[in-house]
Amino acid sequence: MPKYDLISIFPGYFSALDLSLIGKARASGLVNISVHDLRDHAGGIHKSVDDTPYGGGAGMVMSPEPWGKAIDEVATSQANHLVILTPAGKKFDQAMAQEFASFEHLIFACGRYEGIDHRVTEFYSSQPQFIVHEVSIGDYVLNGGEVATLVMLEAIIRLIPGVLGNPESLAEESHTLTVEGEAIVEYPNYTKPVEWRGLSVPEILLSGNHGAIKAYRTQEAVKRTQNRE
Ligand code: ADE
Repeated sequence: MPKYDLISIFPGYFSALDLSLIGKARASGLVNISVHDLRDHAGGIHKSVDDTPYGGGAGMVMSPEPWGKAIDEVATSQANHLVILTPAGKKFDQAMAQEFASFEHLIFACGRYEGIDHRVTEFYSSQPQFIVHEVSIGDYVLNGGEVATLVMLEAIIRLIPGVLGNPESLAEESHTLTVEGEAIVEYPNYTKPVEWRGLSVPEILLSGNHGAIKAYRTQEAVKRTQNRE
């Protein structure tokens, strides 16, 4: 079963992982998630995890020592995929979610403040049993990597076999659908009632003509994809 170790100074963020599909996946033994408090590895009476930046500048930088200890504690002799959340990282997308869903062990390092001392990336990149991924969930700045980790886990875990009740829905959703090899977003969906506030469900969806419905949905999905750009 895939193992996810999450390291943060705010472990409380991850209580959402007891809910919904991810909660069920954990309870039924499809994924193993462990949350670790970085402060357990901080020294001194103040349990400090940050310090001022060399070279000057605003804000604080997370010290490498507690991170090194916390990561070493959860590392195994197998491939350790270390995900460092940072707005400077590679942009997360559906292809990355699919790739990460195939990994047996992910460690998420949730930095705060101005980020983690860069030697943590450098050191683990030089270790043969580690593969380091600096990842951003989008071009905006969060206060820390916790919410970014929740986003990534939600996208990754639903791709693990057995997690979704109806795996066929995976093939038909946004960013997995393709037209002529290009990923597109999903067509608009409708359910009952057939009329709501003067708006009707498109006639063709009621026709029972599966070929025509498929063509209509593809056309609408392409339109939506173009409108996003
Ligand atoms: N930490 C702060 N901003 C972030 C972002 N956009 N993605 C990932 N981690 C972050």
